[in-house]
Amino acid sequence: MQIARIPALMAGLFMAVLAGCSGGARDTDGAQAAGAPITVGFSQVGAESEWRTANTRSVKEALAAPEFELKFSDGQQKQENQIKALRAFIAQKVDVIAFSPVVETGWDEVLRDAKAAGIPVVLTDRAVEVADDSLYLTLIGSDFVEEGRRAARWLIDNSQGRSGPVRVVELQGTVGSAPANDRMQGFREGIGQDTRFEIVRSQSGDFTRAKGKEVMEAFIKAEGRKKIDVLFAHNDDMAIGAIQAIEEAGLKPGKDILIVSIDGVRGAFEAMKDGKLNATVECNPLLGPQLAQLIRDIHAGRQVPRRVVVEEGVFTSDQAAAELPNRKY
Ligand code: AHR
Repeated sequence: MQIARIPALMAGLFMAVLAGCSGGARDTDGAQAAGAPITVGFSQVGAESEWRTANTRSVKEALAAPEFELKFSDGQQKQENQIKALRAFIAQKVDVIAFSPVVETGWDEVLRDAKAAGIPVVLTDRAVEVADDSLYLTLIGSDFVEEGRRAARWLIDNSQGRSGPVRVVELQGTVGSAPANDRMQGFREGIGQDTRFEIVRSQSGDFTRAKGKEVMEAFIKAEGRKKIDVLFAHNDDMAIGAIQAIEEAGLKPGKDILIVSIDGVRGAFEAMKDGKLNATVECNPLLGPQLAQLIRDIHAGRQVPRRVVVEEGVFTSDQAAAELPNRKY
């Protein structure tokens, strides 16, 4: 989704009001005890991928005691679990709520409750689609549309001299999630400029290795004797699962089928080193330190940007061996 902008001053005012009335260790007059930790309720999507594990580690390390008191909840990729967690954080009167929403829609009511309770909300990693954009203060995370475009750009650059049609299969992330919606959009925008490319199958593998393998097996079966030229996977985990399916079908991943995916986790670098994955578009999960700073600023009543985008690049198999020792996730 495109993030609507609200004037910075409005955001600042909203924050100042929230900072003045949010929960945490407070006396009966509502004043926060000096030196008391900032209480943060964090609702995570789940543990579906290497990316997510690294993201959770980064958040937990950055929101550590004594400065913070972190209430962490794993949503197990279910929106209902995340809504329950957000309600619990509101009841506990935390100072700040941060969460990574599994899907984009369906958050209006619980976010209205958080706003009514005076608790500022920070979106991390994924966006929401709400009728009233003032229901959250800021979003820190990647530009998923651009990631999809980068995957397409890599594909076009590496298909020079190839005649069409180039038959592409796509493994989508979780249905209705911001990264799945945006990466689909960006990739289509990118390859749309080149008429050789044709997306012949596209289905969700829910961002997991197991589902990525399962759906790729189904693609190979359904395509039968027709050649699949390219796999675009919305994350590395699904690509790694699909690589197994391709090998089990007697084909060579990275050669018979070109593979480009997103994240840049260590598993992808290993696969690139072995020549089984061709490229990965980086999506940085190490958001913890920047999230901690945003929370400090919000809590102190300082103005924060409406959108914080993380810097990222693209890595190819020829860079894998040299880059692998530097990877932090
Ligand atoms: O929201 C970020 C995405 O979620 C990552 O690309 C994926 O690996 C994760 O599950």
